[in-house]
Amino acid sequence: AVLPLLLMLAAYLIGSLSSAVVLCKLAGLPDPRTQGSGNPGATNVLRMGSRKLAALVLVIDVLKGVIPVLIGRVFGLEFNELAIIALLAFTGHLYPVFFQFKGGKGVATALGAFLALAPMLALLALLTWVIVFAISRISSLSAISAAIMAPVYSLWLLPEALARYVVLLIAVMLLWRHKANIQRLLAGQEKKAG
Ligand code: G3P
Repeated sequence: AVLPLLLMLAAYLIGSLSSAVVLCKLAGLPDPRTQGSGNPGATNVLRMGSRKLAALVLVIDVLKGVIPVLIGRVFGLEFNELAIIALLAFTGHLYPVFFQFKGGKGVATALGAFLALAPMLALLALLTWVIVFAISRISSLSAISAAIMAPVYSLWLLPEALARYVVLLIAVMLLWRHKANIQRLLAGQEKKAG
């Protein structure tokens, strides 16, 4: 029973690698937590003017969700244990131990974790994001919509009760991290992407 616990710890540590902060530093850019929305994520790095860096942040943050769940699968963990691993990778991104617990909003990492955990659920959530983005061009509104719909999709796609609770918890945490975005959206002040 030690192995699942070790893999859960590893998931949190992998999630804690704030790619936006590290890559901006390597590129000689300011800390994204001091720029734009203050969020260390792909959207805000794009806002800071670097398309390539934003794409790299997006890919790495998605992989931070994918890799821990896949490692768990390779070691033969149960589905519910994989769901906890997904939650911990996501939590690491939000509250990274290496970066004073000041992390991001978790959209990319949640997507990655769900892709490895429950691909159909991830694809439906991604489709929701894409549709809302195509209409609104607002990254936060797209993520908020996907987060509201993911627990609904899970009722249909995930038979395991614990995994459903994990999806709900991830969605609630993600919405909580979008508080400032929600206020800006309600005030009609949220910026479009690009
Ligand atoms: O992925 C985060 C996105 O939903 C919002 O980012 O920088 O606009 O707060 P931002």
